[in-house]
Amino acid sequence: MDMQKELKKRVSEIEEILKQYLPREEGFQKTVLEAMNYSILAGGKRLRPMLMQETYRLFGGETKAIEPFMAAVEMIHTYSLVHDDLPAMDNDEYRRGRKTTHAVYGEAMGILAGDALLNYAYETAAKAFFMEPGNEAVAQAFAVLAGKAGIYGMVGGQAVDVESEGDVSISKEKLDFIYRLKTGALIEASMLAGAILAGASEEEQRTVEEIAGEVGLAFQIQDDILDETSSLEVLGKPIGSDKKNQKATYVAWEGIEKAREEVERLSADAVEKLHFLSENHSFLEELLRYLIHREK
Ligand code: IPE
Ligand code: IPE
Ligand code: MG
Ligand code: MG
Ligand code: MG
Repeated sequence: MDMQKELKKRVSEIEEILKQYLPREEGFQKTVLEAMNYSILAGGKRLRPMLMQETYRLFGGETKAIEPFMAAVEMIHTYSLVHDDLPAMDNDEYRRGRKTTHAVYGEAMGILAGDALLNYAYETAAKAFFMEPGNEAVAQAFAVLAGKAGIYGMVGGQAVDVESEGDVSISKEKLDFIYRLKTGALIEASMLAGAILAGASEEEQRTVEEIAGEVGLAFQIQDDILDETSSLEVLGKPIGSDKKNQKATYVAWEGIEKAREEVERLSADAVEKLHFLSENHSFLEELLRYLIHREK
């Protein structure tokens, strides 16, 4: 499989879907609408909608009800990035190869564009209720998305991440908590919502959630490694952000070599679990392997 070609194809399919759900830049609130679209159309790997779609396909899903959910999770993820970059948080100037939203539109619009993306995500996902009235899976997927984005998910992880800056004696338990929530939770939401919408059994859902948890943890550790080893040109965001903010990271905690091994181990475990679910050699499996050695 030519991975680069496959990825490109999927990213462009996802962006077509995403564009259908983005708001029009008109009205007195035009600036905030522009700021929303500025951040979300800047590009990015579109990993979360991709994982959602692939998990949906893995369990035989084939209706369009997945589409508003794919757009919604990318909106939530993008909002998390816009807020993560704010001066009060990681204070970063570049994202997805361009100036951050607050750097272009000002801090107030940065905050509001993030709020707007988060709310619009639910407005968007709610469209699935009308596409498939009476399908309880839609309600279940909606609840998963909302829960994993919130205080018991991404927001909770970000809160502890910020609070742990400079904590050199952070426990492994707390570090894991931060990673599983700030990054793992939205990846779990993506894969789990895909599985639920496709009608996966409860046992299958549990396995999917475990796989996604490992993928999320590995993904964030790799993000930390790249924060030390990559470049602004390749990553599209500044390197050295974690050091600047004295972040408690795996790389700081156990060194880069151990961190690399952890990424390999978690990913291999996730791939093995995926084999239990499906013997078919799927794009999803290729994607998990690809993420281990990703350079951006
Ligand atoms: C960045 O996520 C934030 C993390 C959770 C590490 P991505 O690396 O998926 O960012 P984009 O969407 O490709 O820009
Ligand atoms: C952020 O982790 C995770 C989010 C929920 C946004 P980072 O702060 O490491 O993400 P980057 O490196 O800025 O993308
Ligand atoms: Mg951060
Ligand atoms: Mg950051
Ligand atoms: Mg980072």
